[in-house]
Amino acid sequence: MNSTYTYDKNFQLGNIDNKVWSSFTEHLGRSIYGGIYDPNKSFSDNNGFRKDVKKAVKDLNLGVIRYPGGNFVSNYNWKDGIGPKENRKKTMEFAWSSIETNQFGIDDFCRWAEEVGVEPMIAVNLGTGSIRSAAELVEYCNHDHGTYWSDLRIKNGHRQPYNVKYWCLGNEMEGDWQAGHMSAQQYADKAREAAKMMKWVDKSIKLVACGSSYEMLPTYLEWDKTIMKELYPYVDYISTHNYNMNSGQGTLNFLSSWKQLDNHLKNTENALDFVKSLRLGKKDDKKDIKICLDEWNVWNFQDIKLDNLNDLAGMTTFELTSAKKWEEHPAILQEKYSLLDALTVGGLGITILNNANYIEIACLAQLLNVIAPITTDESGHLLKQTIYYPFELLSKYGRGTVLEPRVSGDTLSTDYGDLPVIAAATVYDKEKSQLKIFALNMDTSNTANLRLNFNAFDGVTPKKQIILTDDNLKARNTFKEPNKVVPTEINLNTTIDKLSLPKNSWSVIICD
Ligand code: AHR
Repeated sequence: MNSTYTYDKNFQLGNIDNKVWSSFTEHLGRSIYGGIYDPNKSFSDNNGFRKDVKKAVKDLNLGVIRYPGGNFVSNYNWKDGIGPKENRKKTMEFAWSSIETNQFGIDDFCRWAEEVGVEPMIAVNLGTGSIRSAAELVEYCNHDHGTYWSDLRIKNGHRQPYNVKYWCLGNEMEGDWQAGHMSAQQYADKAREAAKMMKWVDKSIKLVACGSSYEMLPTYLEWDKTIMKELYPYVDYISTHNYNMNSGQGTLNFLSSWKQLDNHLKNTENALDFVKSLRLGKKDDKKDIKICLDEWNVWNFQDIKLDNLNDLAGMTTFELTSAKKWEEHPAILQEKYSLLDALTVGGLGITILNNANYIEIACLAQLLNVIAPITTDESGHLLKQTIYYPFELLSKYGRGTVLEPRVSGDTLSTDYGDLPVIAAATVYDKEKSQLKIFALNMDTSNTANLRLNFNAFDGVTPKKQIILTDDNLKARNTFKEPNKVVPTEINLNTTIDKLSLPKNSWSVIICD
């Protein structure tokens, strides 16, 4: 089977912002506790930060890391997590029915983010939290000194302001699983007032409005239109979330999840275009709101009891293995990823690239232990799961300008219609005069041939192919066998019209 992708230097879709390769860590299970923070252990530093995790995260070269939730944030009081640790109280955490020890809070996160070289992106509680508390958090983080909250930060050990630039106005407020869930209009009113106050504290901050995420909810997209009519002048981004699940739809349909994400993003893009068109003649009618896909991943719900998949819509039968046990950082949502999951994640990454004209921030959800590329154990070992590798390669090579292709060739029939046998995205790095092609072969039985036509690129030659593949789609990395699924590199001695992609594979091809 063949796919032909034709590109032209002049058909540029958009530049890839460095925040497109970002991630997310929530007070959920062992994401923070046991992931980032494991105090009094030989493998942690004086702040209690795991050294192995810091290194693995630094290696990913991420733009921002979103914190502290997720569903968690809608019942979180950030003031419980500051000051001397011995005075911090334990609280009931309702999103995941755990006990929150508050031993890790905003100061710890900002310090850790600084050490791993990423910008923090902080979500404020707009569920049960007040708009005043949201503004006070901005004051605590960003005001230099001379006020109660900024001086308290200094007293708590950080003289310089953290200057947090990116702020999310709540999380998934459209869903009734969210503490303090409200209607679109109620959210728009509360978010507008929070935005005003937060910007009164620091006008340089950038704000993310909470868009809709779940297609099965009756408010899907209507929510986005309602809130954005109100919030357009106040915010810079709209968020959306998208998880893909392997739930018996068959290998090909699961591998085609990139098309579902593409449809999902196009829906948000269309809603944004619609709201922008209503602003014609207003003073901000040139302003573009960008998409912040601040949660995306494969999530197979391995330890969640669902009576009926359709019930996901209301989340009423969404039962965690830890439900009602009120444990401190229980080992929940510790998904184990296979090669098939990694290929699918690679396909989702390709779609993110192919929507670079709208997406400015995208966070793989999550980073550590919970639906995550990195798993840690309690004895100081760290495991890179299969999905770590496409994400690492996207972050390493997915920088530059995305070119818009014309695609022809053989197709496969899927739940999303007929799709090209190869899903691909191409990034042009002008400085290095390099082209990087990301490609997923969706034919699980045969090698597929990729033919590239690069009009207006003279003498481009493929030099290297980095391939993630294995005969067994179920193959996983484990602490015993950590390198079962890792990428391999081959030097190429071929032309751009004769590239071959083995079955069960995702590749990056570097040409110059
Ligand atoms: O990432 C896990 C959860 O998924 C987040 O807390 C929530 O925002 C989403 O539903």
